Amino acid sequence: MGLIPDNVIDEVLTRADIESVVGRYVQLKRQGSNMWGLCPFHSEKTASFSVNPSKNIFKCFGCGKGGNAINFIMEIEHMSYPEAIRYLGGLYGVEIPETGYSGDSVQKDAKNRVKEILKEAAKFYYKSFNDPVVGQPARDYAAKRSLTKVTLDNFGIGYSPMSWNALYDLLKGKGYKDEELLNSGIFKNSPKTNQPYDIFRGRLMFPIFDSFGTIIAFGGRALGDEKPKYINSPDSLVYNKQNHLYAMNFARKEQSKQLIVVEGYMDAIAMHAAGFKNTVAALGTSFTDSQLKLCARHAKEEIVFFFDADNAGQNAAIRAIKMMMEYLRKLTGINIRIRIAKVPDGKDPDEFIRQNGAEKFKEVVRNALYVEDYLLDRAKNDNTDSETGALDRGRYQEDICLYGSWMNDDIKMSRMAGVAAPLLGATQQAVMSQMVKFRQIEDKKQADLDSRNLERARREDIVHRNETEAFEDVPDPSVPEEVVPEQPAFKKVNDSATSEEIELFAYALSMGSALADKKLLDKTDIIRPDDFSGDTIRELVRIFLNIFDGRNETLFAKMSDYFSKLTINGQPAEDVMLRAVESADKSPDVNVKRDMYLALLFKVREAIIAREEERLLNMRGSSDDAGKQKIDDMLRKLSDYKQSLRKKIGDL
Ligand code: UTP
Ligand code: MN
Repeated sequence: MGLIPDNVIDEVLTRADIESVVGRYVQLKRQGSNMWGLCPFHSEKTASFSVNPSKNIFKCFGCGKGGNAINFIMEIEHMSYPEAIRYLGGLYGVEIPETGYSGDSVQKDAKNRVKEILKEAAKFYYKSFNDPVVGQPARDYAAKRSLTKVTLDNFGIGYSPMSWNALYDLLKGKGYKDEELLNSGIFKNSPKTNQPYDIFRGRLMFPIFDSFGTIIAFGGRALGDEKPKYINSPDSLVYNKQNHLYAMNFARKEQSKQLIVVEGYMDAIAMHAAGFKNTVAALGTSFTDSQLKLCARHAKEEIVFFFDADNAGQNAAIRAIKMMMEYLRKLTGINIRIRIAKVPDGKDPDEFIRQNGAEKFKEVVRNALYVEDYLLDRAKNDNTDSETGALDRGRYQEDICLYGSWMNDDIKMSRMAGVAAPLLGATQQAVMSQMVKFRQIEDKKQADLDSRNLERARREDIVHRNETEAFEDVPDPSVPEEVVPEQPAFKKVNDSATSEEIELFAYALSMGSALADKKLLDKTDIIRPDDFSGDTIRELVRIFLNIFDGRNETLFAKMSDYFSKLTINGQPAEDVMLRAVESADKSPDVNVKRDMYLALLFKVREAIIAREEERLLNMRGSSDDAGKQKIDDMLRKLSDYKQSLRKKIGDL
């Protein structure tokens, strides 16, 4: 294990202010310069647990526990030091560099090469932009869009000249191999010449930065009306679009209470130039779940969303609100205000600022509607006949009850019910109880679905086990039945999992159908429940194997209902697995993924085998001859299997 660099730890401690970290677990009251609450580590009736926001530490005068935010998380979540740092990093948007196990180093080198290539490319685009001859069309375009020199330089904007190979030749000259260039995502292989060529030609180039300002991808805009308007470099070893917000590297430095989220590159850039440096862009209308979570983690107090005025944009708003509210309902202790802004006359923020200036735009941000007001308006407008002005009351009622059921607190719900009630000719109370019913019906549906699936998964698993041995070639490391120690009737659910187990499962999920590809993996190399030690992760693997049919590409989505109900190491299983799968998804090449998967499988299984061998050897002494023979047989199979695994890893 490598070490997490000190500056990253400092960053975590700066962002994870003690008040909000502790505030998720303990209700705090201000008294003087300190905050006080009931200690979560020992039982008490009067508050002796204090938090000092200016020193960023906590201290309990009852039990003596104290320290910084990392120490607090270690204590309350039973995590190790690095685990706690990673956990806080996830919550407060600090990217923790992967320290990884040794098998990671090849991958890490490949990533670094890609980052170098992208940096070289950015320099090249920047130079081309500023070249007196080559860059003229791009500079004209930038001027047309009112981009100043300061803004252009701040965002590293460049120009890709009209050439199929200018960048390719330059980087080849610097010693980069074709494979590395292809890894970077800004070249494609030509089927004709079997040689990479530049994918960006004649476009205004926007480098996409990670939150530390390292370039991880590019977007390129056409200078005219040619299609597509934007080309974005694909997901790669270092870039995952789903999990990224443009301009976060700048926005996170603002430490602003508010986070503004827009759709496009130019919107974000125009807003930064106009002084709204707390703005990020999703780069497209359909927000992903992980982008929303990222927003929630970065926003201290409120998120202001801008959606396009067109139908697609407004539909995206409803989808995003639903996801966001669902997420916020799950989190206690965090209360972020969600607001929806609307740019007048169907313009986007960039156009509006250009025409009306920053001051007027401030008003637009100020006038953003609270989520409940936005939904009230939507329900009304969507169900009002534009000609007669008549309200379709039936539909209005349905929309209102549905939207109300999404709210994460009673006040919002009650407010919505209060406004809707007169239009429905009903009492506020009646509307509100209908919203609650809606929520219960939805929750029940979901719960039924979950338990049905879980039940089916269990049944199928038993049938599966009895009928066929799915992994006939693998010796079953479980001991013969007669020697299984008796299990207590009720066992506490053990939700623990090692980081290797989590990563292994994540790679399996990420590989999807490739897991069943016989050219890539033997059947015996498919994970199974007994590879894992904790109850929860075993159950999840069991469900996974039942859902998995060798074709499915949407495994994570299918699993997410189960994930959302369970915890792993005390954290929401969904978050834990999402993060791990996202990291696994970064390998663009299935062979790389397979190698990582096998390396992890080896580590996990080798440990299990070692434990089993020890157990069998202990038992051997007190067994009769038949028993001894059985055990020797098993030991041999285990050893053979271990050898075959070793060999496979050696071949990688
Ligand atoms: P828009 O079509 O709203 O464009 O797409 P825009 O941001 O206003 O672009 P300008 O002002 O004409 O330059 C919103 C975002 O969707 C993504 C881009 O990230 C864009 O900023 N997009 C759009 C693409 O990736 N490809 C496209 O062809 C179009
Ligand atoms: Mn625009």
